[in-house]
Amino acid sequence: MEYQIKQYALEPGALEIQYIEEYFGEFPRRKTAAEIIERLHDRESLILMAEAPLPDDPSGALVPVSYKVVHEIRHDESVPKLRDLVDRLTGPVTFDGRRILYSWIGATRRDWRGQGHFRALTEESEVWALAAGFEEVVVKTKNRYYDMRAVLAQLHFNVIKHEPNVADSAESKVYLSKLLPAELTRRHRSVRTVVYSE
Ligand SMILES: CC(C)(COP(=O)(O)OP(=O)(O)OC[C@H]1O[C@@H](n2cnc3c(N)ncnc32)[C@H](O)[C@@H]1OP(=O)(O)O)[C@@H](O)C(=O)NCCC(=O)NCCS
Repeated sequence: MEYQIKQYALEPGALEIQYIEEYFGEFPRRKTAAEIIERLHDRESLILMAEAPLPDDPSGALVPVSYKVVHEIRHDESVPKLRDLVDRLTGPVTFDGRRILYSWIGATRRDWRGQGHFRALTEESEVWALAAGFEEVVVKTKNRYYDMRAVLAQLHFNVIKHEPNVADSAESKVYLSKLLPAELTRRHRSVRTVVYSE
């Protein structure tokens, strides 16, 4: 299978994510286009979306089925949420003199899960990250996101920090990371076509 990936510029990408997030029932608080633009407008970032045909549509038109947003995080962050993230990661992650990428949000529509779309987006983001000089990608999740934790294990992310929630361990936070050595892309498995949407 060849995965069809579209790389978006910030504003159309943010609108497309706002649209696709309507299809994810499991998150009570969905990201709006405005929040995405606010987070990404002054930092290096990548918005990728995988497209696939609807099963019953004879026209074969492609619809967005999976997305992923990654962005840089710096040791001198001033946005409170990112300052907090960098503080929590400092130690397990070395920020000084290294470019660190944060895998911020992403999901696949239910009917298209388990078909490799998220692997394809992740592998494409790693190609981009290497070319941009990033050395490590970090991600934050919670114990209760069992699908995401299983997928991150398959994609060879290593746990670097665990923040227990004593009242409810399902809510405990888990931080993971993956180093991006130059030879990483040789281990990539998905075949991908990428188009660029302005
Ligand atoms: C997590 C999620 C994005 C995965 O998307 P996906 O397109 O189904 O993932 P893929 O099909 O590309 O799978 C990637 C790898 O993980 C494996 N995998 C996928 N779902 C899995 C599951 N539920 N359990 C175990 N392994 C799984 C696949 O087999 C694949 O491994 P392989 O390539 O070595 O065979 C999707 O399940 C999702 O949207 N979940 C809800 C969102 C969420 O939980 N967010 C967490 C917030 S941090």
